[in-house]
Amino acid sequence: MNNAAIRALSSIEFATPHLPRAEQFFIEHWGLEKVGREHGISYFRGAGTEHHILRVRQAQMVACTGIDFSTGNREEVDALADRVRSEFPTTSFHPPAPLQEPGGGYGFSFTDAEGRQFNIVCDRDSHKPSAVPRGRPAKLSHVVVNSADADFMTAKFSDLFGFRVRDRMRSMDFLGCNTDHHSIAFCRFGDPGFGHVAFEMPTFDDLMIGVGRLVKGGTQMQWGLGRHGPGNNIFAYFLAPDGYTVEYTAEMEQVDDTRYVPRGPEYWDLPENREQWGLSPNWSPAMGEAQSGLIPFVPRERLAFGGSTSESGRAEDEGLSALRS
Ligand SMILES: [Fe+2]
Repeated sequence: MNNAAIRALSSIEFATPHLPRAEQFFIEHWGLEKVGREHGISYFRGAGTEHHILRVRQAQMVACTGIDFSTGNREEVDALADRVRSEFPTTSFHPPAPLQEPGGGYGFSFTDAEGRQFNIVCDRDSHKPSAVPRGRPAKLSHVVVNSADADFMTAKFSDLFGFRVRDRMRSMDFLGCNTDHHSIAFCRFGDPGFGHVAFEMPTFDDLMIGVGRLVKGGTQMQWGLGRHGPGNNIFAYFLAPDGYTVEYTAEMEQVDDTRYVPRGPEYWDLPENREQWGLSPNWSPAMGEAQSGLIPFVPRERLAFGGSTSESGRAEDEGLSALRS
C-alpha cells in the first residue's frame, strides 16, 4: 500500500515502581480517567475518543516503555511493517498481530537503536464523544525524544511513515503527520532518552483550569505559561511524580502543507520567536535535568520475559531489573 502513513500520535507508556502514586497523579491532578488494568498495567483515557492515551506499568525503575502511533487500517499497518523490516535498523521487531490488551486493535512493534519502542496500531476501540468536566486533556499532542542522531530519525520518519518536517531549530526537528503542526520532535539535547509528552487541552480555558487544579494540589509549574514559536501552541510544563516532564498544551497550529513554509534555526532560535509572550524564557533546573536524558527508554517487549499474566507485574519487574544489571 503505497500511501500507507502514520496518521496520529495515539498513546504513551511509562514504567514506575510507584503505580498507585502515578495513578493518583494522573487521575486526581492531571485529569485522566482509568479505563482498565491488566498484567500490572493501568490504562488511562482523556476526554477524546481514543480508548487510552496513557499506560503506566508497575516495574522496578522509571522508564518510557513505548510510544504508540495510529494508522488507518490493517493494510496500512502491514505495509508500514514491511517498510520498517526492510529499511529501518531495529534491535527487535514484532510483526503485525491482533493486540491482546484493553482496547484491542491490530499492530506491530519495533525498537530502534537507542532503545525506543514504537508501536504502530489501528482498529483500537474508541469512546463515544461525551460531555466531560472542563479542564481535562482530550488527547496526546506530541512527544519529544532526545536522539544522538536526530537527522537520521527525522529522515527515516519522513521517508518511511509520511511525516513532514514542519520546522527546525538548532536543537530540534518538529515533524507532523496530520494537520497538527507536530506530533513528534527529535531533539539534539542531552543524552538519548525521553524528553517530554504533551497532552492537548481543548481550549486555553481548559488549560488554565488544569493548571489551577495542579498548582492548588501542590504540583508546581516548571516552565510556562508561554506560547511556543514552532507550533504556536500555549504551554505549561510540570514534572510527574516519577520525575519525567509532562506538558499541557492548547491551540496547536493547524497546518495546510500546500501553503505552509517551514522555517529553520535562523528564525526560530531568536529568543522572541522561541517564546512569544516573553513571560517564561527558561525552564526550571529540575525540568532541564529531566529533559537531558534522565528518563531512559526501555522497550516494552524487553519486559515480556517470563510471560507472566499475573496482576502483580512481577515478570515485568524482573525484566526491568534485569535490564539494569
Ligand atoms: Fe512540547
